[in-house]
Amino acid sequence: MTQITKVLVSKDQLQQRVRELGAEISRDYAGKELVLICILKGGAVFMSDLMREITFPVGIDYMSVSSYGASSTSSGVITIKKDIDMDIRGKHVLLVEDLIDTGLTLQHLKELFALREAASVRICTILSKPSRRLVDVPIDYSGIDIPDEFVVGYGLDYAEQFRNLPEVWIVETRD
Ligand code: IMP
Ligand code: MG
Repeated sequence: MTQITKVLVSKDQLQQRVRELGAEISRDYAGKELVLICILKGGAVFMSDLMREITFPVGIDYMSVSSYGASSTSSGVITIKKDIDMDIRGKHVLLVEDLIDTGLTLQHLKELFALREAASVRICTILSKPSRRLVDVPIDYSGIDIPDEFVVGYGLDYAEQFRNLPEVWIVETRD
């Protein structure tokens, strides 16, 4: 049986942190050509909130990769299921993620966009599980650190459910 048991991060906490990250990004990229690249599907909710906290026009694009398949442990390999439409050569890229766990997905994506000759590639995530990290990928804009619990909501799913919850909840699975 799967149930959501407890709110880990509230709506207010999410909103406040998104505002802060938006302000920081707006300061850092002022006068530059910035493209936000959302990692689907989980990043979609955060992306929509974050882009509206940035104070100048930005390009946006969406990409879908799979690293987990059906299992809930990372395979360490990513496949591109949907690529971006834009040509990002010479532009500043900010990858927008829902959660950084092992860090493997973002490490691969960072290399990919460097190969595509982006002017710079940085990472922004709303949630991070530092205790789960397998690779040391620098997170330039990190929202909220959480413990090693499986969470859903604010874009994150369990078996494609719960993405639309406005808070971040802890999932418990029992037989
Ligand atoms: P990693 O950093 O390569 O291990 O992959 C992180 C991705 O795995 C995230 O972007 C999520 O899509 C997914 N993920 C990791 N932990 C959770 C969780 O607790 N709930 C839902 N999805 C998760
Ligand atoms: Mg994700």
